[in-house]
Amino acid sequence: MARLLSGIQPSGEMHVGNWLGAIRNWVALQERYEAFYCVVDLHAMTVPYDPPLLRERTRDLAAVLLACGIDPDRSALFVQSHVPEHAELAWVLQCLTPMGDLSRMTQFKDKSAQHQNNVNAGLFTYPVLQAADILLYKAEAVPVGEDQVQHIELTREIARRFNARFGTTFPEPQEVLAKTARIRGLDGQAKMSKSLNNHIPLLAPPERIADLLRPAFTDPARLRRSDPGHPEVCNIFTLHQGFTPAEEVARVDRECRAAGIGCVECKRLLARTMADALAPIRERYAALSADHVDGVLAEGAARAREVARATMAEVRERVGVLAARPSPSARGTP
Ligand code: AMP
Ligand code: TRP
Repeated sequence: MARLLSGIQPSGEMHVGNWLGAIRNWVALQERYEAFYCVVDLHAMTVPYDPPLLRERTRDLAAVLLACGIDPDRSALFVQSHVPEHAELAWVLQCLTPMGDLSRMTQFKDKSAQHQNNVNAGLFTYPVLQAADILLYKAEAVPVGEDQVQHIELTREIARRFNARFGTTFPEPQEVLAKTARIRGLDGQAKMSKSLNNHIPLLAPPERIADLLRPAFTDPARLRRSDPGHPEVCNIFTLHQGFTPAEEVARVDRECRAAGIGCVECKRLLARTMADALAPIRERYAALSADHVDGVLAEGAARAREVARATMAEVRERVGVLAARPSPSARGTP
């Protein structure tokens, strides 16, 4: 089986955009690939954060992923910092990456605008650590939302540059996009994102989902109930495509165009289908203990480390660093 890797930052609560854009695909793809799913805590350190909260969110995000259906018997679910080779490979790859390439990254431009008083070097080299995440496992497929395509393209360039300089080592990974690879937020404009606070939390109970949807932005051209709607531009309709059964979606599409269904009713229907789809995730999440999650992460890290060590041994050999001979004073320590 070909390998797959993806990552998600423990930087806040998971939302419906993450789920439709990426995580749902993670779950589906684990049947066809040897999958590595990584909670990227080192990436989350590139913007201001609170240390105890980072630790808590790292475990919590792993729990949410398990609740979403990541199956630890099939896939390795692990924390990035538990496998030190990620940071080591990132260094090697940084030495192959021109500053100009990194300054073109849109996520860097957005985040450095958001955090003007903390534009640190880690924020700048963030995509290289992401490339290391992927290449360390020689992953061929990377399921992500549309906002990450630029980073995967850069990863391919880094792989090509490494291969050309040191001999073929890495495959060029390909992004795998979901049908709904870009979900807009409740404002109907920007991408749904926890930092913009325009999101629907994945674990929101039904009443909260309904409350969030009620004032959500719809079709700007439909001012009155009697105006014909344009589902193709309406974010509520996009969300219907993610949550509502296909026949119902077709009916909503027809009736919206004919002004047969109003926005209030359309949102009420969505609140119901979304709550139904997310209920099993909330239930599974509530049943998970911290101890169980920590056990899964330990096993995931052990599997990941095995692959990571082998790749790093190969990389060290190729890039010309001197192999360390086992120290004569190290008695029995591996
Ligand atoms: P993040 O929460 O930024 O760490 O993103 C985790 C994953 O969710 C990545 O694969 C993103 O591409 C994806 N993602 C985040 N926000 C959205 C969105 N609004 N629409 C679609 N995919 C998204
Ligand atoms: N940068 C990604 C995001 O913001 C998260 C990420 C880190 C990632 N490492 C990765 C995604 C490796 C895919 C593969 O969403």
